[in-house]
Amino acid sequence: ESTADLVGKHIVITAGGTREPLDPVRFLGNRSSGKQGVALAEAALARGASVTLIAANLEVAAPASVELRLVGTALELEAAVTEAAAGADAVIMAAAVADYRPLLVQDDKIKKDDTGDTLLLELTRNPDILAGLAQAHRPGQVLIGFAAETETDPVRLVALGRAKMARKGCDFLVVNRVGWAEGFASDRNAITVLDHAGDIVCEASGTKLSVAGRILDLII
Ligand code: C5P
Repeated sequence: ESTADLVGKHIVITAGGTREPLDPVRFLGNRSSGKQGVALAEAALARGASVTLIAANLEVAAPASVELRLVGTALELEAAVTEAAAGADAVIMAAAVADYRPLLVQDDKIKKDDTGDTLLLELTRNPDILAGLAQAHRPGQVLIGFAAETETDPVRLVALGRAKMARKGCDFLVVNRVGWAEGFASDRNAITVLDHAGDIVCEASGTKLSVAGRILDLII
């Protein structure tokens, strides 16, 4: 299936997971592999789009023909995606962005001799990048967010997605379950997509590439 229905379209995709430094050797991170974001990039390229991939610590290789921007932290991702989004037809925020970062980044490695048996870390909120993009949203630009949740009950999972949509204000929200063995490291995914009003517009499961195709269909 290589319909060229995205020829002439510029799609910005964020993928992977941010890492928020504590000191020169340590960070707070998450288990996002970047596989779903990379699958979206591959599917969009195959349909003729030009793709900017904003990659945060990917565990998989980025496709060769994307315009690749490497970022580490949420603040770096925010700067890169805000700049790239200005001329984009669609922005897909598949990256797992840290909600908090360490308030102070130590210049030297934190030593356990100085901290003792317990260590309290003070964190500060990161900006909500997706909500910010939604506020700056141009007519005609499609903005897609993700919601990775550990909720196992499907009804409550969708309810969490609806509440998140109300906070984020994007056009579509891709809700997927994650857990110790689901979501992140896997080559497969199961998604429920909500539109701006919170109605279910797509349910799909399969390989991350096939799920990516269903998400791109919504942009069309
Ligand atoms: O609030 P939560 O992290 O669950 O929202 C997930 C969605 O919001 C994802 O699309 C993610 O890329 C985006 N996000 C963001 N800025 C943050 C946290 C998440 O844009 N600080």
